[in-house]
Amino acid sequence: MDVRDAEVLSRVIPSPMEKEIPRHVAIIMDGNGRWARQRGKARSFGHEAGVKAVRRAVQAALDMGLEALTLFAFSTENWRRPADEVEFLWRLLQHHLEKDVPELKAQGVRVLILGDREGLPGGVLEAIRAAEAETAGNRRLVCSFAVNYGGRRDITRAARELAQQVQRGNLRPEDITEALLEKHLATASLPPLDLLIRTGGEMRVSNFLLWELAYAEFVSLPVLWPDFEAQHLKEAIGEYQKRQRRFGGVGP
Ligand code: FPP
Repeated sequence: MDVRDAEVLSRVIPSPMEKEIPRHVAIIMDGNGRWARQRGKARSFGHEAGVKAVRRAVQAALDMGLEALTLFAFSTENWRRPADEVEFLWRLLQHHLEKDVPELKAQGVRVLILGDREGLPGGVLEAIRAAEAETAGNRRLVCSFAVNYGGRRDITRAARELAQQVQRGNLRPEDITEALLEKHLATASLPPLDLLIRTGGEMRVSNFLLWELAYAEFVSLPVLWPDFEAQHLKEAIGEYQKRQRRFGGVGP
């Protein structure tokens, strides 16, 4: 085989390094509290360091050519945390959006917020509105922040919207399909979810993207979120590439 044949072959058969990268990666960013405790600091210190890790993750997603990155920033259950921590997290999100949107915009990132906006502080709502409007035309990467988000709540909301259409006589129950319900989920405009990463070492999905996870791959990393670097995203994607996705079938 001469060099030219080898070149042709390498284009047809991808080497392990060139295997398909996922289109859509979601991350449960866990471990801020433990990271702070290890340093004898308040939990807020860990969340602040978590924002820096968010920036690194977005940059890594851009560098690796992902289409969508979805980050779990605040769950419908996180209201159970002490009031001062909840307040701090909202302030941090608002500040992050206000500060980082110009850079995200310049990088071609579209910002999307998933979750229930009812009950969010006014300043956060305004920052969300501005971030989404400012970046609406961007196409390189969609970066979604799930805030006041719960997978069950999102599916329930979608079901309620369909029920209302039936009640108004605009939809027949027999026309409700998986594809139609999916169009009513917060993630309707995103590519199918390929990979869920959870940092902090736990093996739970914690009410995140329940519908979307049906055939996604799951990778749990022992790293605490504030220590997350591009290499961890690469490692998780490497693990994803080793898996054989069969979608309920028997594979090739
Ligand atoms: C989990 O760590 C993290 C959160 C509940 C919040 C996620 C928030 C950030 C990463 C920072 C802010 C993000 C944005 C987008 C501004 P934990 O507190 O549950 O950690 P623990 O399990 O060690 O206690």
